[in-house]
Amino acid sequence: MPPATSMPDLERSPSAIPAAEWAALEPTIAEINRLKTERDAIVLAHNYMTPDIFHGVADLSGDSLALARLAASTEASVIVLAGVHFMAETAKIVNPDKTVLIPDLRAGCSLAESIAAADIQQLRRQHPGAPVVTYVNTSAAVKAASDVCCTSANALQIVEGLGVDKVIFLPDRYLGAWVASQTDVEVVLWDGACEVHERFTGQQLRDYRQGLDGVSIIAHPECPEDVLTEADFVGSTSGMIDWVREERPERVVMVTECSMSDNVALELPEIEFIRPCNLCPHMKRISLEGILESLRTMSHEVIVEPEIAARARAAVERMMELSV
Ligand code: 13P
Ligand code: SF4
Repeated sequence: MPPATSMPDLERSPSAIPAAEWAALEPTIAEINRLKTERDAIVLAHNYMTPDIFHGVADLSGDSLALARLAASTEASVIVLAGVHFMAETAKIVNPDKTVLIPDLRAGCSLAESIAAADIQQLRRQHPGAPVVTYVNTSAAVKAASDVCCTSANALQIVEGLGVDKVIFLPDRYLGAWVASQTDVEVVLWDGACEVHERFTGQQLRDYRQGLDGVSIIAHPECPEDVLTEADFVGSTSGMIDWVREERPERVVMVTECSMSDNVALELPEIEFIRPCNLCPHMKRISLEGILESLRTMSHEVIVEPEIAARARAAVERMMELSV
C-alpha cells in the first residue's frame, strides 16, 4: 500500500508518468494533503486508480474487501473514496457515523446496474430456501435484500462457509461460474457482467503465450471462463498484486483494468508488464482534481437511508465473519 506522501516521489515516476508531468502535479497533491489534515480526512483508493492518485494522495489502498475493512476501522472523520459508487456506499454502510465523500457521482459500475432489489425477491420465489450471496459490486438496496455479501477475494469461502447445498449468487455470472467450478455447492447465477473484464478473450491470452516467451498470465475472476482457464493465477485485484510481489515473474500480463499494472510497475520496475489496456470508464471518473474539489467543498456526500443501511450492514458483517 502506498504511504501518504506530502510530495510526489520523483524517483518512482518514470515508467508510468513522465517526471515533468509528475512534478507538475506537486501543487495539487500538496493541497490535497493539506486539506486532508484540515478536514481530518483520509483517501481510500481502489487498486484501479491512476498512479497520480494511487502513489500521490492515497493514504491506504486495496481491493474491495480491503477498502471495506479499512473504512470500518478508520478513526478519521472523513473518508474520501477514490473508487466507484458502490465502494463509497459500502464505506458508509460499515461506518455510518463518518462522512463519506465520492469525488464524482457518475462513477458507477455495470455490475451494480444489472440488478435491483425486486429481482432478488423473484429469485427467492424461484429457488425457495437458497441463501442470496451478493457481490459487493451492487447498490445498498440490493445488499439489503441479500443474506450475505462477498468480494472477489472471498467469494468461494463465503459460498462454502454457509454450509448449504445451493446458493443464489449475483450479479456477476463469470465470478459465479468460477466459484461454481471449484465447489460442490449448486450456484444459481444472474446474468450480470463487468463491461471491462468481459471484453478479454481466451484467444487473446493464447496469443500472448505464443508471442511472449515465459510470460505469466494472471486474471481477475470477473473475466469469462475461457480466459480464466488460460490463466496461471486467478484472484482479486490485491490477490493479483500479491502474486506478482511474491512470484516476481520476468514478464506478466495482468488481465484486469490497466491502471493497476501502471501502479505495480512503479513499485516493481524490474518486471515487464504487458498491458492489454481495458480501462474502466467509471473508475476513470475519479481524478486528482476531483479529489481536490471534493475535499474543498466536502462533496459529494454519500447518504444511505438508515433502514436500508442497517440491513445492508448485516449482509456485509456476515461476510466479514465468514472470511478470516
Ligand atoms: P476487487 O475487489 O478484486 O478489487 O474488484 C473490484 C472491481 O471492481 C473489479 O472490477
Ligand atoms: Fe464495475 Fe467492472 Fe468497473 Fe469494476 S471494472 S467498477 S466491476 S465496471
